[in-house]
Amino acid sequence: MDRVVNVCEEPDDLLVESSIRPLTIKEYIGQSEVKDNIKVFIEAALMRNESLDHVLLYGPPGLGKTTMAMIIANELHKNIKTASGPAIEKSGDLAAILSTLEPGDVLFIDEIHRIPRVIEEILYPAMEDFTLDIVVGGEGGSRSIKIDLPPFTLVGATTRAGDLTSPLRDRFGIVCKLKYYTNEELKLIVLRTSRVLDMPITEDAALALAKRSRGTPRVANRLFKRVRDFALVEGKEEIDLETTIKALDRLKVDDYGLDEVDHQYLRSLIEKFNGGPVGIETLASSIGEEVTTLLDVCEPFLLQKGFIKRTPRGRMATMKSYKLLGINYQENLFVGE
Ligand SMILES: Nc1ncnc2c1ncn2[C@@H]1O[C@H](COP(=O)(O)OP(=O)(O)OP(=O)(O)O)[C@@H](O)[C@H]1O
Ligand SMILES: [Mg+2]
Repeated sequence: MDRVVNVCEEPDDLLVESSIRPLTIKEYIGQSEVKDNIKVFIEAALMRNESLDHVLLYGPPGLGKTTMAMIIANELHKNIKTASGPAIEKSGDLAAILSTLEPGDVLFIDEIHRIPRVIEEILYPAMEDFTLDIVVGGEGGSRSIKIDLPPFTLVGATTRAGDLTSPLRDRFGIVCKLKYYTNEELKLIVLRTSRVLDMPITEDAALALAKRSRGTPRVANRLFKRVRDFALVEGKEEIDLETTIKALDRLKVDDYGLDEVDHQYLRSLIEKFNGGPVGIETLASSIGEEVTTLLDVCEPFLLQKGFIKRTPRGRMATMKSYKLLGINYQENLFVGE
């Protein structure tokens, strides 16, 4: 389903994405704690002329992990090599990437929790001692050799820190959790995007967009682009509040930034499962959505905003969800009993 508040990357967006992606830590809005720490560590690494310690970035999709990885390489004045957990299928794939690294380079591994365990083990000595242990030969004649690697910085990104094995997690010296952005921060991101894409937006319209972006810069930018289309068709040279509200309503994004999938999730939880507790698989199949979409995209935000609770027996709707959908909390408690 095409979600306007989709937090995942869309291929056709990549060109525009790269133009609006901040390139320096100064341009990176919000996440002040993470930024302040990383700034110090980068400065210290540069002063000591050493590679930066390995960095793990985790948090929900679209919050700026890839952007931060690129900024780190940029601020270190080093190259960035990019790999993705699911694409690393054989140990040779990882060994090949590692052996291309130059001193101080940044190796960015996205979705690092999806690297198969046996391959992950190659990373341990690489991260710790900058050595690559590989097995050469075969058929009885195989032996293990060690190859020295130049010092490098591994930047790992994951939406699921909990899925990371502890030996891997422990090898990151710098661990940063990216948080959902405030409305003020998202407003600044919208205003920045408006400047980069050369389409003015009023302050109040930028704030209205920010409020419905579910704390996520990628959503803010995506909503901005859609609202820009509405303004263009209406012949407006500046995006104003009226157009913004109209566009957002047409796009079926509510005041909290929840879209139809979130609404279906909550409605199903309340109406079909009496408010829970219900398991995620059951809930996902009841609305025809992928479990991973619900886990990575819907739930972190619904939890953060207090629409649902996670209990050992499953998901439960909170009073806030009943209110949102206009369903009476008390009445529903006894349905089906
Ligand atoms: N702090 C920020 N300031 C300004 N723009 C940002 C910031 N963080 C993210 N963005 C914008 O949001 C978009 C999405 O960010 P990014 O691709 O880095 O997210 P991600 O965390 O890597 O997502 P995923 O988990 O899906 O890989 C970027 O293209 C960038 O334009
Ligand atoms: Mg990313």
